[in-house]
Amino acid sequence: MRPVIVVEHLSKRFGRLQAVDELSFTVGDGEIFGLLGPNGAGKTTTVRMLSGLVEPSAGRATINGLDLAARTEAVRAQTGILTELPGLHDRLTARQNLAYYARLYGLRGRAQRDAVTRHLALVGMSDHADRRVGGFSKGMRQKVAIARALLHDPQVIYLDEPTSGLDPSAARQVREIVADLRDAGRSIIICTHNLDEAERLCDRIGIMRGTLLSVGTPAALRRLGRRATTRIELVGPRGPESFLETVARLPIVAGARADGRTLLIEVGDPRGDNPEVIRALVADGARILSVREEAASLEEVYLGMVGSAPSVDIGREAVA
Ligand SMILES: Nc1ncnc2c1ncn2[C@@H]1O[C@H](COP(=O)(O)OP(=O)(O)OP(=O)(O)O)[C@@H](O)[C@H]1O
Ligand SMILES: [Mg+2]
Repeated sequence: MRPVIVVEHLSKRFGRLQAVDELSFTVGDGEIFGLLGPNGAGKTTTVRMLSGLVEPSAGRATINGLDLAARTEAVRAQTGILTELPGLHDRLTARQNLAYYARLYGLRGRAQRDAVTRHLALVGMSDHADRRVGGFSKGMRQKVAIARALLHDPQVIYLDEPTSGLDPSAARQVREIVADLRDAGRSIIICTHNLDEAERLCDRIGIMRGTLLSVGTPAALRRLGRRATTRIELVGPRGPESFLETVARLPIVAGARADGRTLLIEVGDPRGDNPEVIRALVADGARILSVREEAASLEEVYLGMVGSAPSVDIGREAVA
């Protein structure tokens, strides 16, 4: 994989607020990289810097070999961005909106018409091409906005919460478009709060809050969950409640609770720990029907890293 987006110690300060702090990561061609983080974590600021819309305070980045600081115009030509609040002109049709932006990208005449028609088809909006955007639903607008970001066939694509507010089928269509772009070799960064979507769509995920807290494939991140849950299903007259104390006494057990006929046990290392837990249960007279191990979900890992408290603005104040 060729590194296309290379970010090194990128930082952005707004007055006293350090919105992005020494962020470093790489995205290859044909890769979808998810930026995950709570409100105010600096995701939007990061993609705005990487598209040349906001100037970094420190650090550097290269996009497809171009230095962001030195070649901002060239970088813009190679990047497409879907912003959080895409501005479309309500009084223009979808086609006219796209034609307007195609002109800004320097496309003229036949090339412009072709680009517009091709991208309307790509996002499944050909049938609505000549309707005014003012009458569109949120999902229809979002598709036009995605088409707009892709008009100039950029190698690098940033999608800031591409499916927020979309119904499940529209969200799925958008995910399919994104996956196709990846398969066509583009490099894509998606900012999202949707952990399920990140897990399904992204090749790698960076969990950030000002800086990167962790990075890896969704599976690798799940393994970072320090604890695993073992589900032990019981049969017979004694329910899981009567065995809580038996397992809670074991030093390897971090926690236990009963759920119907199932005993849920938190252990650090299921391979090493489960046999001991089961021995203790059997010695105490438990009749075990099944034992199943569950790795932490991405959500648990995420909440473990960024905390579960709702945060309005967690961009950290710069240390004086
Ligand atoms: N133009 C600006 N001027 C001042 N502060 C800003 C500006 N843009 C962003 N910030 C601050 O930088 C921090 C990061 O904001 P950013 O929009 O990048 O977060 P985000 O991760 O995209 O959040 P969300 O999930 O809510 O979209 C926030 O504290 C925000 O208030
Ligand atoms: Mg944002």
